[in-house]
Amino acid sequence: MDEKQIIKDRVIKILGWYDAHRRILPWRSEPGVVPNPYHVWLSEIMLQQTTVATVKSYFEYFLTRWPKIENLAKASLDDVLHAWQGLGYYARARNLHKCAQVISSDYDCRFPETESALLALPGIGPYTASAIMAIAFNKKSTPMDGNIERVITRLHAVMEPLPKSKKYLYQLAIKMTPDLRAGDYAQALMDIGATICTPRSPNCGICPITRNCVANLKGLEEELPKREKKPVKPVRRAIVFWVTRSSGKVLLRRRPEKGLLGGMIEIPSSSWEVKKKSHKELIEQAPFDINWKIIPGRVRHTFTHFHLDLEIFLGTYEGKSLKGDIWSMPHQFSDHALPTVMKKVIAHLQAVSG
Ligand code: ADE
Repeated sequence: MDEKQIIKDRVIKILGWYDAHRRILPWRSEPGVVPNPYHVWLSEIMLQQTTVATVKSYFEYFLTRWPKIENLAKASLDDVLHAWQGLGYYARARNLHKCAQVISSDYDCRFPETESALLALPGIGPYTASAIMAIAFNKKSTPMDGNIERVITRLHAVMEPLPKSKKYLYQLAIKMTPDLRAGDYAQALMDIGATICTPRSPNCGICPITRNCVANLKGLEEELPKREKKPVKPVRRAIVFWVTRSSGKVLLRRRPEKGLLGGMIEIPSSSWEVKKKSHKELIEQAPFDINWKIIPGRVRHTFTHFHLDLEIFLGTYEGKSLKGDIWSMPHQFSDHALPTVMKKVIAHLQAVSG
């Protein structure tokens, strides 16, 4: 068989497997039903963050609350951030909201059907644009996510480690992408990657394309894909200032719109410094000039590019409030979109104070 025939044969097997074994997912349309681009887009943005199992309930909640994209566009940003809690990376939720507004205002609530127009929308990068083209519009496109990269790496026994091999994997994947059933094909590769061609102990015995798989032939499936060693993350340090009033209210504030955790509500903290600074230096950044009590222990939270180690300082303040200060009772914190790092601070305080 020549290469073209091998690829054709492989695609038939992949699609045949999908017809019989596709996962039932709340955002996935039934066979023969035209997909809803809003559902596809929403699920793809959520799935960049976390697992299919976690996304299911968030997806269903969003659709119950905002059944159509115009409903999401009209929602307040705070409500969207709040509903996003637990999915991480709030910048994605902000872009989601912005994107819904642009689609509503500039596109009459309908997603554009070209990759270039999709790419121009907030929060839509090459992967998402490609996934929407294939899954929502059934147009030939080659989305590459981690699962698909693993399948292609093994299929061709690509020895070059990720992420260096990404470009080559993409070229191989493009060659394999069929002209028809683009959406089913992309989702089939995702499902094979998630359920058969798993990172550890892949179940090659039930894989529809195992006969074509060079890694399987060479017994390399467990070793591939190789990965370059990740650089060690730096540690940043800061103090969190837990200020209470005699009413029991605690000082919160909104982070600047730009940057990490942009626009989220936080317990005030000093700058997050890589260079070790003394308590005295960091206390200069406290919201008020008051006496501080140091809470034993530290809170560590790991972001994409660094660890953050936080110490907690307690103080009380009865004076005048400053512009932007938010005073909230701890039992009402859930009214705010508090990032996970701040929830860890609260949990630490509760653990220490019993
Ligand atoms: N992972 C990312 N997108 C997915 C999809 N549409 N179906 C299944 N798994 C996915």
